[in-house]
Amino acid sequence: MSKIVARFIDDIRRSHYCGDLRASDIGREVVLYGWIAQRRNFGGCIFVDLRDREGIAQVAFDSAFTPADVDRLPGLPEAEGPFWDSEQASQAYALADEARREWVIGVRGVVVHRGEANINPKLATGEVEVRVAEAVVFNRAQTPPFELKDEISTDEELRLQYRYLDLRRGPLQRNLRLRHRLSQATHRYLSDEGFLELETPHLCKYTPGGARNFLVPSRLSPGKFYALAESPQLFKQLFMVAGFDKYYQIVKCFRDEDLRLDRQPEFTQIDIEMSFVNQDDVLRVVEGLIFQIFADCGAADLKSLYPTGCFPRLGFAESEQRFGNDKPDMRFGLELYDLTDLIIEHHGGGVALLESVAEKFKDGTYRRAVPAEIVKAFVIPAEASLSRAKLEALEKGLREIKGFKGLARAKVAADGGWTQSPFAKSISAELRSAINQACEASEGDVICFQIGKPGTVNAALSKLRLEMGKRLGLIPEFGHGGQWKLLWVVNPPLFEQNEDDQWVAAHHAFTRPLDDHLELLKSDPAQVNCYRYDLVLNGVEVAGGSIRLHDPDVQTRVFRVLGIEDEQARSMFGFLLDALRSGAPPHGGIAIGMDRLAMLVGDGQTLRDVIPFPKTNQGVDSMSKAPVWIEPDQLAELQLTSTAPPRNPQSDQDD
Ligand code: AMO
Repeated sequence: MSKIVARFIDDIRRSHYCGDLRASDIGREVVLYGWIAQRRNFGGCIFVDLRDREGIAQVAFDSAFTPADVDRLPGLPEAEGPFWDSEQASQAYALADEARREWVIGVRGVVVHRGEANINPKLATGEVEVRVAEAVVFNRAQTPPFELKDEISTDEELRLQYRYLDLRRGPLQRNLRLRHRLSQATHRYLSDEGFLELETPHLCKYTPGGARNFLVPSRLSPGKFYALAESPQLFKQLFMVAGFDKYYQIVKCFRDEDLRLDRQPEFTQIDIEMSFVNQDDVLRVVEGLIFQIFADCGAADLKSLYPTGCFPRLGFAESEQRFGNDKPDMRFGLELYDLTDLIIEHHGGGVALLESVAEKFKDGTYRRAVPAEIVKAFVIPAEASLSRAKLEALEKGLREIKGFKGLARAKVAADGGWTQSPFAKSISAELRSAINQACEASEGDVICFQIGKPGTVNAALSKLRLEMGKRLGLIPEFGHGGQWKLLWVVNPPLFEQNEDDQWVAAHHAFTRPLDDHLELLKSDPAQVNCYRYDLVLNGVEVAGGSIRLHDPDVQTRVFRVLGIEDEQARSMFGFLLDALRSGAPPHGGIAIGMDRLAMLVGDGQTLRDVIPFPKTNQGVDSMSKAPVWIEPDQLAELQLTSTAPPRNPQSDQDD
């Protein structure tokens, strides 16, 4: 280390963060360290915007500034030795003359008022500047591949490649600080509520079902693999069996899923488990925590939005019925209409497609079968005034939905008649007017129909609803738009049928059925709902959890519906089953997706806005290029061979 660097780090030492300087510091001798964000050379006077994590301070290297000027400053403390040394000042000026963007420098100087005409109201430090007496270069940074300013149009891929540079920008600095506050609020709140922060392993046993696991080969047990934990689920239940009563952890989870804007392969959960509790108890803890997080992050005053301290609750079935999904965005209306009963009542009203649905309900048992066919509608309001081409483009956007066959439409005329509709000619006047009435549709509205299995019908119409919410300006493309709509979606069915018509657990096999649905386990599994709950914020699922199945008797009955025999259960769930039979208290819990919550609270567009070092949608770390090829001898050490296509060094630019 050069003498001058040592002097700045060891002896002079930083006195302030750049962003902390205020008018009250005028006259003070200060030492700042930071990165050069901007540099303006006015010949004889060079201004540098010096940036650190707290903000920007203007520092001036002024060749005309003299010791006499310094003497005129009021209240300047006696520095050790002379404050102003002409030789040091001219060296500093030479340094500033040579310096470039993103160089890391240190300056010692005095805080002065900028003069009324030069005040920059956009900067918190905008009233003052530092007249430099001495400076040092810590690092002559190479020219960055893009300009590091707050508003930026540089391709995200390039920014991810140089993430450490992108992270210097204001928005990402702010987001990560918000994440810090969120995390601190969580620790404080849960610890005060009596929760213990306990750790669980990342290297776990692979278990089928749930999210796809990342596998890690074991060198010490050749041929065997660990799975990276998709969540601490089993272990947190074991903490309850072990008597810890209230557990929490801010924990990394790993899932090898297809990625989206709100899904990363490694993400963070605020994971919670509690003993001797019911559903209300768990919801209450999370409500309190979310209130605390919003307050500490300065996001919104939830107390005024939810004066009871509770978020509204919506039954899963009602959520599906009204919004077509279990994470409704409640910032706008435009609800869906279920026309199934109407269609049955009118025997399909002369429309072949609708008649075939009505026909299926004839003997009264069809509704019981899961999944029955349904008919639902969504109304595009007249004010959207979408052309036929735009409607067709909307329909195109729905084609990726599994089972989607098309969007039958009807435009309502002034007299209630329908135009632009495949049903217009054949539908009976009675059914048409009943549908108009049920959908509250009037002139110019476009009724969009979906007929078929609930999964497809709901997926298509809920997507359409969201799209129209955005197009009509009811919600922004991204972000909260100043609205915070939180709600619980509770008590979904415990089982669903797979493609072979077998019952499978809709979430996981250890979710407890509603007490008054226990009788239905044998007679009508489709109707059994469970103690499961998701927290939804502006249409994004931010948390999910359940009350667990701790009672061996009910466990056996649930496993019977799932077709799991005792022996099989033991081999599938092994130690958990044993543990639950070794003194398990009634317990339940939840996990909050911390990245998603930070993204929403910070008004980010993707999880990448709040994760320091995220992966791309292809699961790649653009900086290190992970995942990378492994050399054959490394594979051999693990006794593995690869059947992947041979490596092509020409096309593989990764390593
Ligand atoms: P679940 O699987 O619902 O529950 O996850 C809980 C919350 O984690 C977030 N989340 C994700 N965030 C980013 N990227 C992902 N790939 C991702 N996957 C999930 C969501 C979700 O609501 N063990 C149970 C919890 C419990 O029952 O207590 C669990 O993991 O916000």
